[in-house]
Amino acid sequence: MAISSRAFASLLLALLLLGSASAQLSTNFYSSSCPKVFSTVQSVVKAAIQKEKRMGASLLRLFFHDCFVNGCDGSLLLDDTANFTGEKMAKPNNGSVRGFDVVDNIKSAVENVCPGVVSCADILAITSRDSVVILGGPNWNVKLGRRDSTTASLSGANNNIPFPSNSLSTLISKFSAQGLSTKDMVALSGAHTIGQARCTNFRAHVYNDTDINASFAKSRQSNCPQTSGSGDNNLAPLDLQTPTVFDNDYYKNLVVFKGLLHSDQELFNNGSTDSQVQSYSSSSSSFFSDFVTGMINMGDITPLTGSNGEIRKNCRKIN
Ligand code: HEM
Ligand SMILES: *[C@@H]1O[C@H](CO)[C@@H](O)[C@H](O)[C@H]1NC(C)=O
Ligand SMILES: *[C@@H]1O[C@H](CO)[C@@H](O)[C@H](O)[C@H]1NC(C)=O
Ligand SMILES: *[C@@H]1O[C@H](CO)[C@@H](O)[C@H](O)[C@H]1NC(C)=O
Ligand SMILES: *[C@@H]1O[C@H](CO)[C@@H](O)[C@H](O)[C@H]1NC(C)=O
Ligand SMILES: *[C@@H]1O[C@H](CO)[C@@H](O)[C@H](O)[C@H]1NC(C)=O
Repeated sequence: MAISSRAFASLLLALLLLGSASAQLSTNFYSSSCPKVFSTVQSVVKAAIQKEKRMGASLLRLFFHDCFVNGCDGSLLLDDTANFTGEKMAKPNNGSVRGFDVVDNIKSAVENVCPGVVSCADILAITSRDSVVILGGPNWNVKLGRRDSTTASLSGANNNIPFPSNSLSTLISKFSAQGLSTKDMVALSGAHTIGQARCTNFRAHVYNDTDINASFAKSRQSNCPQTSGSGDNNLAPLDLQTPTVFDNDYYKNLVVFKGLLHSDQELFNNGSTDSQVQSYSSSSSSFFSDFVTGMINMGDITPLTGSNGEIRKNCRKIN
């Protein structure tokens, strides 16, 4: 029995609505309103990474934590005030996300060349791409045209952003809830080829898990006391080989059980994603190409477009 024509019509409508938001983003969105946006963003990102290599990682992570909460709308950047609760105090963000001063510098530089035109949400998208490229990763054309939210969601940040304690099936479902595939999830996790994590986030994995190389676990334990509360903020590189180079070493580590986070090693632990990890560990070009696809898909998560939202003057507060 065929599905009813009414059901078919609403399916079509749903597909059209789903497609429409991202269809409004385009790579040439600012080509007449702010032709200098790319060179302006890039020079500030370059200077920030020159000053501190880790900043490239921190900036890339901001885009992820923004996009997973009501879409890529700059909501993460809003500061808490007496009468506004933002996302910065959420569990995955508090004491962990960084780079807001650099975003402020980028925003000021962009406001200088074209005031009131470029959203903070788009700045995060361009900044992520630039960071990846500067650290040796792939390049791509960034889709633009997002506008900034006038709201934020603390509970969204707590519920949607994955935790390092998550199992493979939870990781898959948290990405799926954002419209991202398991393939995107595994490729995007390769962002952990750069940057650092705090002891509090890898303690359980290096002390309690068995899917970890014993000598690697021991070396990570040496700078991460077992007792919770002590040394919580001690840092270790997510990629022990080259933490400031965007390459496929993250996957090479996973196949020898040297993932730093429990969630990292979940991707190679006798599960359905083992073969994808194996393939990226032996081919940086297939990782790069799927990472780019993943970043574009993530950047398409429910953007505010048209007359929705606003172009913030200051990324930390609504106009
Ligand atoms: C798959 C689920 C993911 C989990 C559970 C996860 C979790 C984490 C955790 C716990 C840290 C360390 C934070 C700290 O200790 O302060 C971290 C760092 C980082 N994450 Fe993820 N992450 C995930 C996916 C992603 C994705 C999709 C991206 C970007 C595309 C990303 C980019 C980064 C970067 C670059 C860092 C290092 C940041 C820095 O050094 O400042 N992560 N992540
Ligand atoms: C929050 O407080 C500030 C100043 O204290 C005020 O200007 C602003 O209108 C208030 N916002 C809301 C949404 O109530
Ligand atoms: C945020 O982190 C600081 C220390 O890093 C802590 O004192 C504070 O209680 C945390 N706030 C929340 C809401 O978790
Ligand atoms: C390891 O597991 C034990 C038993 O479940 C637990 O009591 C302990 O807190 C865990 N240790 C860490 C560092 O997570
Ligand atoms: C764990 O890593 C060490 C150091 O790289 C290596 O010598 C050892 O063979 C590894 N252990 C296993 C079981 O693979
Ligand atoms: C994965 O499978 C291998 C052999 O197929 C086994 O030795 C290993 O213990 C398994 N690992 C886990 C975490 O189940």
